[in-house]
Amino acid sequence: MKKTTRFPLGAFEKIETPFYYYDTDLLRYTLAALTAALPPQAKAHYAVKANINPRMMKIIAASGMGADCVSGGEIAAAIEAGFLPQDIVFSGVGKSDKEILAALRCGIGCFNVESVEELDVIDQLAATCGVTAPVALRLNPHIDAHTHKYITTGLSENKFGIDITVADKAIERALALPNVRLRGAHFHIGSQILTLEPFRLLCRRIGEWLRQWRARGIFMEYINVGGGLGIDYDAPDEHPVPDFAAYFDVFANELALDEGQTLHFEPGRSVVAQCGSLITRVLYVKQGLNKKFAIVDAGMNDLLRPALYQARHEIENLTEPYAQTDTYDVVGPVCESADVFATDKELPAVVRGSMLAIRSAGAYGETMASRYNSRELPCAYFSDDLLPAGQKI
Ligand code: LLP
Repeated sequence: MKKTTRFPLGAFEKIETPFYYYDTDLLRYTLAALTAALPPQAKAHYAVKANINPRMMKIIAASGMGADCVSGGEIAAAIEAGFLPQDIVFSGVGKSDKEILAALRCGIGCFNVESVEELDVIDQLAATCGVTAPVALRLNPHIDAHTHKYITTGLSENKFGIDITVADKAIERALALPNVRLRGAHFHIGSQILTLEPFRLLCRRIGEWLRQWRARGIFMEYINVGGGLGIDYDAPDEHPVPDFAAYFDVFANELALDEGQTLHFEPGRSVVAQCGSLITRVLYVKQGLNKKFAIVDAGMNDLLRPALYQARHEIENLTEPYAQTDTYDVVGPVCESADVFATDKELPAVVRGSMLAIRSAGAYGETMASRYNSRELPCAYFSDDLLPAGQKI
């Protein structure tokens, strides 16, 4: 049975727009699909940066996933939501001393270390706490993920990770430091990756390095391949759940892991993106010289992706789904020309007050919202509360 999002229009009428609407049924369905597809010897850590809404996080934590965090704030939120400290991994090129100390004190499972300089600082801080820090080296594998340049991370010009060509030095350093325990290696090549080829290439490369390290007596017990699985922004109802099985199988089949080795994933977008929509109303239909503008009450401060990455999100007219179509630029009220959700978008004709759903906004939507132009932060509502029991699947 396919699970598509249903919108409780009656309930929406009473809520002030704009707001995020989360289909918590779809989230549970997605988590069940992910868990069922996960290979043996593997653990998935939800990339908290995608959506840090406490209710969403609690549902994700209850599924048994670990968490991938990039700040002290994310670690605190993950623990609050019920993720176990030992299942938390901590990435990021600029971990502060305060964040490292907090992570050491709560006993996180692994630091994904992004430079030799950071390795030394973790070693010193671990000594002051009287603990040994579990670390993995984040290695930059020089793989082009063929995605937007702002979300590509695995190329040599990117700031992330330790360049693979100097990995040996970093490994030697980690093995020599008294207060760190080298668990393994971490990779993340980018986000919204729509073909499996870059992941296959990553597996082949990792396989070669693992063989070389093994030959030198270095056993990497922890192999973390990051996140990056893309979702279908064009057809959210046709593909509400990504093909986790095909994605995981690439790693299960192409990385011949030894006994005692564990495989770690850090999916973010693929878990939450299709579960969220930004609900907004049309304020004005403005006739320009050559185009019509549907000016809505949500702006780039509520959902930054279109302005920052030229990202396309499907837009649905919830109020008049069967009206004759017309063509609009759908724009927000923020004083920036980049505050555009869609250009030349064909929609069932809208009028002042029409309610629209900007789809696939569950990942990097609410988390990236700001108060620019002194606008309110958007609130969040959940299908668990708004959908009548009979309409839940
Ligand atoms: N692991 C690491 C080390 C990461 O840097 C990221 C995302 C993930 C995992 C999760 O990747 P995902 O499964 O979500 O692709 N704001 C951008 C996306 C930035 C991604 C940053 N890193 C957007 O809205 O497209």
